[in-house]
Amino acid sequence: MPAPIPSPMPARLRPLSARLHAVAQAIPPGSRVADVGTDHAQLLAWLRARGRIAAGIGIDVVPGPLEHARRTLTAAGIEGVELRQGDGLAPLSPGEIDVVVLAGMGGARIVRLLQAQPARVEGLRALVLQPNTDWIGVRRLVAERGWRLTGERMVEDRGKFYVVLTVTPRRGPASAWSDDALVLGPRLLADRAPTFVAWLRHELARTERALVRAGRAHDRCDVGPSPREVALRTHAERLHRVLSAP
Ligand SMILES: C[S@@+](CC[C@H](N)C(=O)[O-])C[C@H]1O[C@@H](n2cnc3c(N)ncnc32)[C@H](O)[C@@H]1O
Repeated sequence: MPAPIPSPMPARLRPLSARLHAVAQAIPPGSRVADVGTDHAQLLAWLRARGRIAAGIGIDVVPGPLEHARRTLTAAGIEGVELRQGDGLAPLSPGEIDVVVLAGMGGARIVRLLQAQPARVEGLRALVLQPNTDWIGVRRLVAERGWRLTGERMVEDRGKFYVVLTVTPRRGPASAWSDDALVLGPRLLADRAPTFVAWLRHELARTERALVRAGRAHDRCDVGPSPREVALRTHAERLHRVLSAP
């Protein structure tokens, strides 16, 4: 009996989390992509394995994650992804990349890395940004630079909510976004997708619990409301107003 013909080895790749899947969906197909803070390189491996990107560069500032990235790529037999060690966008040469992804890190760090390399950033076709914290600071940078926000999506992943922003980083006049738009997201507000409405409810419940705790502290000490309590109240009022708008 002839020996069975071996079928091609399937790429050994874990499925992407809902968060990273939303990031992958935001990347224009066929782009050359740099993933800054690549860590495990799952995003680039997934995109290359599906032929969704022309080439990838994974960047990380420390060697440990780059070792992890190398193992992911080797185990899955992925070609066309280069790994570089360095700070933010510094390891990139002008014109070699179309899209930069900054995902899974704090918003303040994302802002700092973008501010450090204005010429490299403003030559890109797109930025895909997924800040874990300080979404407002990232939106503020986009508005101040007059960059165009072309996509804004909220995703829920294992009980946590994440925002994915797609930006065309061409400098223009600063955008005059309202406070509601800066805090809650101009496109999220316009689209009112079910996940965004779920986040508004979740955020309101969280803010109301924090207000109760802050109120107890202020009753105990017999003093007026603290600046934090005032900020929480303003936030809760904003969430109420947006939730009850038609
Ligand atoms: C929590 S991981 C996120 C991994 C992946 N991007 C994701 O979304 O799942 C953040 C990674 O960013 C890297 N990082 C932090 N600061 C950096 C910098 N200045 N330049 C490049 N990488 C950085 C860290 O070493 C870490 O591997």
